[in-house]
Amino acid sequence: MPTVGSFPVLQNKIAGIPVADLAGQFGTPTFVYDAAKIAERIADLKAFDVVRFAQKANSNLAVLDCVRRHGALVDAVSAGEIHRAISAGYKPGGDPPQIVYTADIFDRKSLATVVEHGIHVNCGSPDMIEQLGEAAPGREITLRINPGFGHGHSQKTNTGGDQSKHGIWHEQLDECLRRSDFRGLAVTGLHMHIGSGTDLEHLAEVCGAMEKAALRVGRSIRSISAGGGLPVPYKQEDSYVDLPQYFRLWDETRKRLESAFGHKIHLEIEPGRYLVAESGFLITEIRAVKRMGQNLFYLLDAGFNNLARPVLYGSYHPMAIAAESDRDRPLQEVVVGGPLCESGDIFTQLEGGFVCKRSLPAAGVGDFLVIGIAGAYGFVMGSNYNSKPLAAEVLIRDGKPHLVRARQTDEDLVRGEVIPV
Ligand code: LLP
Repeated sequence: MPTVGSFPVLQNKIAGIPVADLAGQFGTPTFVYDAAKIAERIADLKAFDVVRFAQKANSNLAVLDCVRRHGALVDAVSAGEIHRAISAGYKPGGDPPQIVYTADIFDRKSLATVVEHGIHVNCGSPDMIEQLGEAAPGREITLRINPGFGHGHSQKTNTGGDQSKHGIWHEQLDECLRRSDFRGLAVTGLHMHIGSGTDLEHLAEVCGAMEKAALRVGRSIRSISAGGGLPVPYKQEDSYVDLPQYFRLWDETRKRLESAFGHKIHLEIEPGRYLVAESGFLITEIRAVKRMGQNLFYLLDAGFNNLARPVLYGSYHPMAIAAESDRDRPLQEVVVGGPLCESGDIFTQLEGGFVCKRSLPAAGVGDFLVIGIAGAYGFVMGSNYNSKPLAAEVLIRDGKPHLVRARQTDEDLVRGEVIPV
C-alpha cells in the first residue's frame, strides 16, 4: 500500500468495515470511532492509579460510556460536560471522585451544578475557592497550579507561564491555602496541566514544581494529577512520549511525597487526545476537483466547521483516498479544502494560514477521502458556520457500526430561533 510519511494514502476500511459501506449507510461527512483503539489506549496507562479522561477532546455519550467501561474516570470543564458524564453512567462522589470539575471560573450554572450534585472541584483561580467556600463550605477541593512555565504544540495550547490564564499562579499558593482554610475547604490534592504536546524534558521540571508545591500544602494531600498533554503522532516525524519513563518521573515524585507525608498518594493522569485521537476518522466525499493555476484542489463536503484544527493551529492530519488499489491512481500534489465560503477553509495549511500541498492518489468527484487522527478535538470543536449541520458520529464496537449521534437536520439548524411578530 502506498504511504506518504508513515500513513497509508489509500484506506479502504476502518476497523474492518469498508469506508464506502459506512458512507453509504451514514452519509458524509461522518466521524467514525473505533472503540477497540480507545480501550487499547486506556490500557497503555494502567500503571497510573487513576486515568481521568479529559472529555473536552470527545464527549459523545457513547465514547464516554466506552471510556467508563474500560475503567477510566472523567474530567468535566462545564455544567454541560457534568451532565454528559452523569448521562453516560458516571456517579458524582467516590474516592477518588468519579467526576471532577476543572476550570478557571464558575459560571453561575456550573457553580449551581457542582453544589447540587456534590461534584469534586479542581479550582483554577482564587475566586473559585471563595465562591465554592461560600456556596458549599466543608468540601474537599484540589488546586490546579500554574507553575510559572508551560509547553504546548502551539502557543494556543500552552497552558503554563504568565501568558496563560490557567490555574493558580504558583506564588499565590500560600494565600489560596489561607483562603481555603478560612472558607472551610480542605485542599486534598494538586493538579498541573502545562500544555498539550508535553515532552520529557519539561516533565522533570513539572514534577519538581509539583513536589515543591505539595510540600507547601502538607499532609492533607492525597492525590497529585499530572494533567493531560500526552502527544500522539500526527506526522511521520512525531512520536509518542516514552510512557514508562513518563510514569517513572511521576512515580518517583509521588513516592517522595508518600515518604514525606507517611501516607498513600494517588497518582492521576488526565489525557484527552491520547485516548481518542487515533480512534477517530472523518469520512468525507470529494465534491469538486479543480485547477487554479499551479494548484490542483480537492474540495470536500467537510470543512473547518467539522474539523477546525488545521485552520486554528495549522495542524496536520493524515489523509487517504478510500480505494482498493492504486491502479490508475498516481500520486499527485493537491490542496485539500472544504465547502465553506471562506478562503481559510483548507485542510492542508501551516500555522499562519500558509496553504501547502499534499501527495495523494488521483481521485475524482464521488471518491471518499478519509481524514485520520480526528477523534480528539474534531467533532467537539465543530460549528454550524455557513448553516452546515453538525456531522453524524458512528462508533464501531465488536465489528459493528452504531450511529451514536445523528446528523443534524434543517430543523435543528433553526431550533430556538424566532421571528418577532
Ligand atoms: N487537562 C486539562 C486541564 C486541559 O486543559 C486539557 C486540554 C487536558 C487535560 C487534555 O489535554 P490533551 O491530553 O488532550 O492534550 N483544541 C486543542 C487542544 C486544547 C487542549 C485544551 N486543554 C487541539 O486541538 O489540539
